Amino acid sequence: MCGIVAYLGHREAYPILINGLRRLEYRGYDSAGVALINGHDLRIFKCKGKVSDLEAHVQDGNVKGTVGIGHTRWATHGPPNDVNAHPHQGNSGDLALIHNGIIENYAPLKEELIHRGHSFKSDTDTEVLVHLIEDIQFTEKVDLAEAVRLALDSVVGAYAIVVIDRKEPDVMVAARKSSPLVIGIGEQGEHFLASDATPIVEHTKNVVYLEDGEIAVIDRQKGLKIRNIKNQDKTPFIQELEMHLEALEKGGYEHFMLKEIHEQPRSIRDSLRGRMDLINSEVVLGGIRDHEQKFQNAKRILILGCGTSWHAGLVGEYLFEDLARIPVEVEYASEFRYRNPIVGEEDIVIAISQSGETADTLAAIELAKSRGATIIGICNVVGSSIARVTHAGSYTHAGPEIGVASTKAFTAQVTVLTLMALMIGRRKGTISASNFHRLINELDAIPDKVQKVLQSEAQIKYIADIYKDAPNALYLGRGYSFPVALEGALKLKEISYIHAEGYPAAEMKHGPIALIDEAMPVFVVATKGASYEKVVSNIQEVKARKGKIIAIVTEGDTVVKELADHVIEIPETPDQLVPLLSVIPFQLISYHIAVMLGRNVDQPRNLAKSVTVE
Ligand code: G6P
Repeated sequence: MCGIVAYLGHREAYPILINGLRRLEYRGYDSAGVALINGHDLRIFKCKGKVSDLEAHVQDGNVKGTVGIGHTRWATHGPPNDVNAHPHQGNSGDLALIHNGIIENYAPLKEELIHRGHSFKSDTDTEVLVHLIEDIQFTEKVDLAEAVRLALDSVVGAYAIVVIDRKEPDVMVAARKSSPLVIGIGEQGEHFLASDATPIVEHTKNVVYLEDGEIAVIDRQKGLKIRNIKNQDKTPFIQELEMHLEALEKGGYEHFMLKEIHEQPRSIRDSLRGRMDLINSEVVLGGIRDHEQKFQNAKRILILGCGTSWHAGLVGEYLFEDLARIPVEVEYASEFRYRNPIVGEEDIVIAISQSGETADTLAAIELAKSRGATIIGICNVVGSSIARVTHAGSYTHAGPEIGVASTKAFTAQVTVLTLMALMIGRRKGTISASNFHRLINELDAIPDKVQKVLQSEAQIKYIADIYKDAPNALYLGRGYSFPVALEGALKLKEISYIHAEGYPAAEMKHGPIALIDEAMPVFVVATKGASYEKVVSNIQEVKARKGKIIAIVTEGDTVVKELADHVIEIPETPDQLVPLLSVIPFQLISYHIAVMLGRNVDQPRNLAKSVTVE
């Protein structure tokens, strides 16, 4: 949600900023802008639209300068237009500021600043912050770094900011609270700043993750200094990035989403690697080993997440109840945080987040933590805020996910949840040794089976072409496949803008069945397993009303083939592992429909990948 990037060093800043913004565009793409200082000259270029629009706007502009900041926006306050685009400036025009987050008390601050003679151009909360800093510089006669510190002391909200001042052209000041900020330390005094490490990795692998309440001052002569809002010095903790540049490229695919769908055999394999011992029949998740006892004794598990991560959590509910016999509640983090939930020391909370930055999930974790619960994270982005505030956790090893619609992160999350439930179930004795052995061997075979499902892409594309113009779609599943139905519907909505609903198959008769006619495609997971016969009956109910059935079936199925309009076969696997296979055709269907409709698959309208506002 808004991407920020900044550079101070010996090279021209503009190409570094533009490349960085391209990497961060998944965070928001309503408008973009840069500010550069050359000598004592500060120039700003900003406009509505994408980073490519900014480049066109800048064409032939004087973008010289070895210090600069850049921003790509996901609008919160004020519509996306040229004026609301970042960077923002104060009255004097000396300062330029970029911001990711929300200043909650911007209205009273703005009113006070207007009384003091400030005039505002935009509708944004951010502009208030830059005026406030400027006002403090002037009234308190302090330098930029101190003015930022004092200003932030009176701000309520979430922010990652970077500010430059043409009066101090060799200084860049950054700060964070609840929104991420990474500092890259390059050679010959070069420093990079960004919302995540993706713009930095091509320049340096040495990074410092700024902590909440910290302010970084980067000075061409003195280098990097970090202090907190109380003005105490902090020692920067430099870490080495494990990210590789190739992971951030499309690798020959037309879209990141397609690449990420096809990466799933690898990403699931990486999420399993080193965690299963097939010979000794063991699962070991090193990150949660210290909390195993607590898990085993847990009277209840709470799973928190948003969007696709919440869907993975629903699969987790079935897994933990089935394999470890622990009752589970799955909560939308945004609901949990505002309803005085009953949670305490006895509870295990599993927080799931691809980005590790989702504001609602982060706030829900803080709430559960303050009430004494043990928080276990399942995150994809190493070093992210959620990964750092949890007591323990297991990373998914999906690698960077750039497409806004989550695909490989979902299957990696489900993989880790399966490992967790198996590990706890085995320790508790709620799974027999033979069943455990069978399941871990089946899990080990999943990456190859995913590869096999991907081979159906041509058939899936053919089906996509038939249904691409449908205005609505229904997704049905039962048991482990119910969350997959929800995820399938979400994927279609997100990237094709076709209205879709996911439903438990048997619930269809309590409402959605009224929608069914010959124009309604109904996507059903009808694999062999516990609820197979029941789902077959549901399919018959749809066919009786002339609905179109696209069914995901187990290889060799003949019964559904007779009833359905189309079947997509997936290899046989136990019920517990079906979501890892059945979601793949749904991802591909959505992808191909969206491409055929000419949608922007990787950057669908109104969405952002990392939602750092509530
Ligand atoms: C956004 C993204 C979704 C994602 C959700 C939760 O809405 O567009 O793809 O599932 O946030 O994000 P998280 O990073 O916490 O998994």
